[in-house]
Amino acid sequence: MEQLRLAVIAGDGIGQEVTLEARKAMRAALADVELVETEYALGAAHYLETGEVLDDATLASLAEHDAILLGAVGGDPADPRLAGGIIERGLLLRLRFAFDHHVNLRPTVLHPRIGSPLRDPGEIDFVVVREGTEGPYVGNGGALRQGTPHEIANETSVNTAFGVERVVRFAFELAEQRRRRLTLVHKKNVLVHAGALWQRIVDEVAVDHPEVEVDYLHVDAATIFLVDRPSRFDVIVTDNLFGDILTDLAGAVGGGIGLAASGNLNPSGAFPSMFEPVHGSAPDIAGKGIADPTAAILSAALLLEHSGHPDAGRRIRDAVDADIDGRDGTARSTSEVGDAIAGRISASTRKEQA
Ligand code: NAD
Ligand code: IPM
Ligand code: MN
Repeated sequence: MEQLRLAVIAGDGIGQEVTLEARKAMRAALADVELVETEYALGAAHYLETGEVLDDATLASLAEHDAILLGAVGGDPADPRLAGGIIERGLLLRLRFAFDHHVNLRPTVLHPRIGSPLRDPGEIDFVVVREGTEGPYVGNGGALRQGTPHEIANETSVNTAFGVERVVRFAFELAEQRRRRLTLVHKKNVLVHAGALWQRIVDEVAVDHPEVEVDYLHVDAATIFLVDRPSRFDVIVTDNLFGDILTDLAGAVGGGIGLAASGNLNPSGAFPSMFEPVHGSAPDIAGKGIADPTAAILSAALLLEHSGHPDAGRRIRDAVDADIDGRDGTARSTSEVGDAIAGRISASTRKEQA
């Protein structure tokens, strides 16, 4: 039987809770595929216990999988033992860089039954293609005269023509398959060097995609449109940091961060892609069993779609849609939502196999 070798990093806080539900969904959705799951105890709690953030051997072992499912990593931001982004940089970003996850794909679709915080949301169906390996995230910076009144703290945003072009090409190809509209979001009126590079490359790649309508927004104005008229967006392409910020906003306007899924893609397949909810470990609700697992479950759907199992992915999406259709405001626990969705998936998998 065909195998899908899955590495699971449940991580911290609600990462543990929502990942269980995403795994239930995957098991229910896969037919004629053996899901071989390897669990990796990584994250803030593991680091505090063992001192390991992410060893080279663990990294090499993760690379031996077809895909990675990640819940969320990171502990209490006030914990001094975790200061300096030790987990975020040392684990999450290390994985994204080591596995060359240069496309961070973050779709937003507002389901008609989900209450949007927007008065007049219109139809919301767009994808943010966030660059995943460059920008200010690379860690190119440093502090001078530390601790003095004259301290200088630099974070340099790194933008290479190679890195920008590959993510821009991906975004154009995605736009071709969608509504053929692409918006570059940057801040080229102030960040003139990087902005000029992004704009030039978008203009160059646009020549190969004459049917894609292209426009540009400064990131501050983009936040207005995301709230005022999100229906104007189809594909947004942007850098790592702008993409991070815009996709939390996108999650909120799309009905809540508990619904927002993402994929860190290595489109070449040289390394496993990694799928995770957009949200974090939510220390404020961790352990209460009330986190919405939908984002993790939809991340599992993305994982299956990008790992050669589109039917299984569709079964998960259909079940999530049906579950959302039936939501009437009654509070359900994380596992109640996950069980209800997995139940629907199993039923459709059985029906389609019959
Ligand atoms: P967060 O996303 O964890 O939480 C923000 C708010 O959203 C909180 O009020 C939380 O309760 C709520 N929320 C998030 N997910 C939810 C869900 N599924 N259901 C219901 N409510 C949900 O962001 P934060 O508080 O800034 O970060 C907490 C920790 O997570 C930090 O250590 C941060 O670095 C880390 N983090 C990790 C990832 C990741 O692993 N991919 C992503 C973002 C943040
Ligand atoms: C995300 C998170 C990460 C990011 C952090 C935890 C490093 O916010 O996945 O959106 O900034 O990319
Ligand atoms: Mn984020």
